[in-house]
Amino acid sequence: MNQIIFASNNAHKLEEMRHALDERFELLSLSEVGFEGEIPETGRTLEANALQKAEYIYERFGRPVFADDTGLEVTALHGAPGVDSAHYSGSRDAQANIAKLLEALEGQSDRSARFRTVIAFIGPGLRELFSGEVFGSIATEVRGASGFGYDPVFLPQGSEHTFAEMGMEAKSHFNHRVRALEKLIAWLDSDAPPFAAQDEPER
Ligand code: IMP
Repeated sequence: MNQIIFASNNAHKLEEMRHALDERFELLSLSEVGFEGEIPETGRTLEANALQKAEYIYERFGRPVFADDTGLEVTALHGAPGVDSAHYSGSRDAQANIAKLLEALEGQSDRSARFRTVIAFIGPGLRELFSGEVFGSIATEVRGASGFGYDPVFLPQGSEHTFAEMGMEAKSHFNHRVRALEKLIAWLDSDAPPFAAQDEPER
């Protein structure tokens, strides 16, 4: 079994990733590898933050690891909240972040937005970035109770339902993070990565 650490303390993300991964890979949570605490996240881009988080864990455990960083980019707000999505309102409270977003978009006819995720993977001698995105729009009110973050106001293109009105299965059809994960998996299946050698029969 190919084990990869997922450098995130977000239980929702862990569940989404486990749901999307096939049985050839085992995703280890931070608590399963004995890491407690916060991982520093001080970059000004999704790429810098994803790398910072993956590097922080790789330095401590020396095992294949990936981290993600995600931003909600709203056209009428010139890409905000973007890299500041987690603390857009000044706190990490999702309801407060959504309230600020709805207020900022009041009276705006263009409510288009996208979620963009960057995944950084680090393994022995390896350092790779993958991205995934989903286009959609910001609803005018909060709808649905599942998921996390901005899920109750994000309407993916082609759906009448917000992410929070969908189950994880339905969300995964659109899921920006799953898109990035699929690229990581395709790359892990190619001939360069850390597990390729491990799976070969001994000579
Ligand atoms: P993070 O830094 O990757 O955790 O993402 C920053 C913020 O974006 C999170 O705190 C959430 O508020 C928001 N976010 C990330 N992914 C999602 C998602 O799939 N749905 C809704 N909000 C999300």
